[in-house]
Amino acid sequence: MLPDAPAEQRAPRLNIVGCGRAAGSLARLWLQAETLTIGAVLNRSRASSERAVRALGTGEPAVSIAAMPAAECWLIGTSDGQIEAVSAAMGETRRDLDGVLVFHLAGRFGLEILESLAVRGALVAALHPVRSLTHDHLSLDDFAGTACVAEGSEAALARLEPLIRSIGGLWLPVRNIERGLYHAAVSIVSNVTKGVAWKAQKWLEHAGLPESTSAAVTHQLLGSTVEDLARAGARHSITGPVVRGDTRTIEAHLRALESAYPHDIDVYRILARTVLELARERGDLDAATLQRFDVLLGGGGS
Ligand SMILES: NC(=O)c1ccc[n+]([C@@H]2O[C@H](COP(=O)([O-])OP(=O)(O)OC[C@H]3O[C@@H](n4cnc5c(N)ncnc54)[C@H](OP(=O)(O)O)[C@@H]3O)[C@@H](O)[C@H]2O)c1
Repeated sequence: MLPDAPAEQRAPRLNIVGCGRAAGSLARLWLQAETLTIGAVLNRSRASSERAVRALGTGEPAVSIAAMPAAECWLIGTSDGQIEAVSAAMGETRRDLDGVLVFHLAGRFGLEILESLAVRGALVAALHPVRSLTHDHLSLDDFAGTACVAEGSEAALARLEPLIRSIGGLWLPVRNIERGLYHAAVSIVSNVTKGVAWKAQKWLEHAGLPESTSAAVTHQLLGSTVEDLARAGARHSITGPVVRGDTRTIEAHLRALESAYPHDIDVYRILARTVLELARERGDLDAATLQRFDVLLGGGGS
């Protein structure tokens, strides 16, 4: 067997504890970009660690944190609820963490859950790639421009930034953000949009559109909506019956839902109220129209 190349000649080595969808996707990107090599991989079960290594095509399945070889970077890619326990276990068992970069991927958490590593001299960071990482074959082109929200010490971010840039991520450092609100915002914008699209498709099909057409209409509308948002922002690009003050059209929507999907009326009202809030803030509507909308949509005005 050939000896390892000298450290200065090879890409830094990454150990992964928790190599599932997110960590696996990122690791594959770093391998494609040739900016990291993979050291050891530890999942909960031996079979899962072996599967992850097979999927990466490189690395060694590990049996415990203590048994993993040294590495310049460690990624804790477990589910959110396990990160702190893994961090504590690393802090207890490893004596080689000084100056080593350790990061997790949970949008919900900042640096607090890596405290047991920071006290051992590790350079800790929280990295949140703001996209769904579920594809086995995510390419560098797919990932290009993905917002990567990163929090950490100056030294940790200095190590992480080139890794993110090497795979085309949009580097967005932050400090002390309110994680609950941050995560609520990013979850709602992606997952709720998908939930709303799914519901809209059901309504379109009930209205008589075939499934393929309802999907095409929904996806095309979402595509042009995203373009509008990118070009002008929500405040300037929003249109439709609420901002036009067309109370009769909203009454007709509510009647149609009452007969087809009565359980969805609450969903419609809540979503339409967010549009009304924006129209109110923009000063689009007179007091009488606002009052009528408050009656139709519930929730009261402010
Ligand atoms: N997936 C996304 O779209 C996405 C996007 C951005 C951020 N994130 C974040 O990425 C992290 C991982 O999410 P994911 O979707 O990749 O989860 P996942 O697919 O369920 O993968 C989690 C992996 O962690 C392993 N694991 C769990 N507990 C462990 C422990 N105590 N020790 C060692 N390995 C352990 C699991 O091993 P087994 O296979 O043996 O169970 C599994 O392979 C989360 O913090 C999440 O918030 C995910």
